[in-house]
Amino acid sequence: MPSQQTIDLVKATVPALRAHGEAITTHFYQSMFRDFPAVKAFFNQAHQANGSQPRALAGAVLAYAAHIDRLEEIAPALPAIIQKHVSLGIAPEHYPIVGQCLLRAIREVLGEAATDDILAAWAEAYGELAALLIAAEEKVYADTAAQPGGWRGTRRFVVARRVRESDEILSLHLRPEDGGALPAWLPGQYIALVLDIGGATLRRNYSLSAAPGGDGLRISVKRQAGGVASNWLHDQAVEGTVLAVTPPAGEFTLAEGSRPLLFITAGVGITPALAMLEAAAPAGRRIGFVHAARTPAVAAFRARIEAIAAAHAGVTPRFRYSATAADAPEHGRIDAAALAGLLPADGAVDVYLLGPAPFMREMLGLLDTLGVARERVRVEFFGPKEALAG
Ligand SMILES: Cc1cc2nc3c(=O)[nH]c(=O)nc-3n(C[C@H](O)[C@H](O)[C@H](O)COP(=O)(O)OP(=O)(O)OC[C@H]3O[C@@H](n4cnc5c(N)ncnc54)[C@H](O)[C@@H]3O)c2cc1C
Ligand code: HEM
Repeated sequence: MPSQQTIDLVKATVPALRAHGEAITTHFYQSMFRDFPAVKAFFNQAHQANGSQPRALAGAVLAYAAHIDRLEEIAPALPAIIQKHVSLGIAPEHYPIVGQCLLRAIREVLGEAATDDILAAWAEAYGELAALLIAAEEKVYADTAAQPGGWRGTRRFVVARRVRESDEILSLHLRPEDGGALPAWLPGQYIALVLDIGGATLRRNYSLSAAPGGDGLRISVKRQAGGVASNWLHDQAVEGTVLAVTPPAGEFTLAEGSRPLLFITAGVGITPALAMLEAAAPAGRRIGFVHAARTPAVAAFRARIEAIAAAHAGVTPRFRYSATAADAPEHGRIDAAALAGLLPADGAVDVYLLGPAPFMREMLGLLDTLGVARERVRVEFFGPKEALAG
């Protein structure tokens, strides 16, 4: 625990820094990417351009600072950060770089108010948080590598099969090139691909879209207009291509137990939910699986979901298409009618929600009106976490 003087100084400056959150993050990332280009390769530049990553990191540091004497309040936010860092291969030597650039940003934002005492207090506070994350991340790296079939860093996987799932979504079946075993992993988790494209190294996360148990891993990638990795995977990752893959990670995973499940997904957000559905259906759980897409042509996995429902009486699938003709079957957005009969009267349900942030906000509002408590709803983001409250 830092000294009381450090706690007081850090907490006293949080409001000023929060008020200038944007300035901090702009300074921070600009100077870090300028002075430490090797670190830049870890960050998805699209998340910089839309501001989601700068907001996530600055938000986490400020939340930590505001709760520096009550760390239990921010503890629930840490596993997602740790898992994301581990998936991307963040190492202890990166932390001083982030710390140095963050302190410089704080100095520039606070101006003359940034006394030596204040900067020293922030350095100490950052150091504590960094030490906590480094230790937790090292434990995950070591535990993962020690598992049967586990590894650390990247492992070479061969594209064994490509399957077109819709006009936009392509599945890649990946097998370890060394023919070795795979570690145990949990449905809902993701891997990262480390790709060299056009002379640059990129890291991209992809959820595992089939339940554990086979001899490989499956990812399902949506082709994004202007997207570097997704277009490369669609166009260049042919059968036989070798990809560098990090171990499965992530904490958006299926809760144990027998409670009914409700999956609500949009677009390619279906991927981790499908792996969870495949794992949960044979256990006889009552499951609602509600999926939204713009049109049937871009929607993936409908036949697979219907086959699971046909084989398991507890599974009820529903589909909605927002961009079809108004009188087309299943036209429209997911609404109360689409969820009718899928929510137990006592509200004891585990909801898994994944899609674009505006979709998730809309669905949280709908679930509120249907009386589902927020703590029953788990969300995942295909990018840095964003605020969904409201
Ligand atoms: C945990 C997790 C799981 C995921 N699972 C899946 C999955 O199962 N399937 C899947 O398809 N995706 C998944 N993703 C998303 C995936 O990681 C990639 O973000 C996605 O494939 C897009 O990458 P890209 O390189 O093709 O696009 P990028 O090159 O990152 O671009 C994304 C978009 O931003 C725009 N853009 C890029 N740079 C800029 C800029 N400087 N200014 C303005 N606009 C810009 C591009 O035009 C494009 O529209 C997941 C992400 C996470 C974090
Ligand atoms: C105390 C220090 C740090 C804090 C509080 C922090 C916080 C965060 C948060 C909140 C996220 C978003 C997680 C999510 O919602 O997915 C994140 C992601 C990330 N962090 Fe950190 N981080 C720290 C240090 C570092 C360091 C040292 C690096 C290495 C350069 C790093 C690299 C990344 C990357 C690459 C991502 C994913 C970015 C993306 O999706 O574009 N972080 N971090």
